[in-house]
Amino acid sequence: MPMSKDQFGRKIDYLRISVTDRCNYRCRYCMPEEGITLMAHEKLLSFEDIEFFVKVAAQEGIKNIRLTGGEPLVRPHLADLIKLLKQIEGIEDISITTNAALLPRFADELKAAGLDRVNISLDTLDPEAFKYVTRRGKVEEALAGIECALAYDFAPVKINTVVVRSLEQDFESFIKLAYEKPLSVRFIEYMPVGDSAGFDETGWSIEDTIPSKELIHTISELGEKMGLGPLERLDDNRVYGHGPASYYSFEGAKGSIGFINALSNHFCFKCNRLRLTSEGELRPCLFSDLEYDLSEAIKTRDVEKTREGLTEALKTKPLDHHDRIGTDRLMSQIGG
Ligand code: GTP
Ligand code: 5AD
Ligand code: SF4
Repeated sequence: MPMSKDQFGRKIDYLRISVTDRCNYRCRYCMPEEGITLMAHEKLLSFEDIEFFVKVAAQEGIKNIRLTGGEPLVRPHLADLIKLLKQIEGIEDISITTNAALLPRFADELKAAGLDRVNISLDTLDPEAFKYVTRRGKVEEALAGIECALAYDFAPVKINTVVVRSLEQDFESFIKLAYEKPLSVRFIEYMPVGDSAGFDETGWSIEDTIPSKELIHTISELGEKMGLGPLERLDDNRVYGHGPASYYSFEGAKGSIGFINALSNHFCFKCNRLRLTSEGELRPCLFSDLEYDLSEAIKTRDVEKTREGLTEALKTKPLDHHDRIGTDRLMSQIGG
């Protein structure tokens, strides 16, 4: 069996690497406000450790890398890591998922290092609601980050909007954003993961998840009302990316609208990814706590053991998450 396929024949070519569990925000659905035990700095994989791992992974079929957090831009000198990864044979696409608050500060060096594109979290355009959700953020920071991503052509620039029923998000503004700017606004079904990680400060439950099917209908009706015509499904190759979103657009729009049905309609059957934590544990599935601790193999540069770990992770990658929503870790330790 070639390593790039798992036991169910799924092609695995996408690796999400969490480079830190720290974050400058405290989004309610992701991290508790206080009392988190952060990972010890000494245990973090160094950039050279990550480079080593990606070199081995690339030989085994990994082509696309997404750096996540926590917030990846709080990891000092992230551009240096991108520079290292960019040179690895077989790596085709390097992206980050960020809240973008620090993007204007680092855009120059990220571009020079070879960062291809960014996905930006923005759940609401309302300043008060934004503050409520992120606890420490300001909506102007996200908006400046988005403008910066466009100016530096980290394209396609995508917005991640976690949809929560009780937040009563203003979908019209998001439609406008995707109509007027070359952005892909992706609506993500809220996943109530807090409970199993031992925190739940959101007060939100499964009832707060708006299934994408319902939301597509809402967005479509709103678009008609706004005089934009019908919301049309785009074919899968129209918006570049390797994730689970399905894309739609209004005729004449500069951007597009995506839906990520993280809960309702599992995309597990086409899952293409593995995840590496910032301390070197390899996770075959977001919602399984099965992990392979490869930190020692990585730090001792043991190619065989690292490769074995990768092979094991693929052999045991579950077909789906058996309806489990959540993990023993916080989302901020896995990177979504
Ligand atoms: P591209 O399509 O390549 O741009 O990347 P992406 O959409 O995979 O990356 P991003 O980090 O922006 O993820 C978007 C959303 O999808 C986040 O809310 C993730 O938590 C969610 N997501 C990513 N992978 C999985 C997965 O394996 N399972 C589930 N349920 N959700 C996922
Ligand atoms: N449900 C849905 N999406 C989530 N994200 C983080 N936590 C959750 C959750 N509980 C999203 C963030 C970020 C991406 C990496 O994952 O909005 O954009
Ligand atoms: Fe930070 Fe992103 Fe988690 Fe929000 S979702 S707390 S920005 S890691």
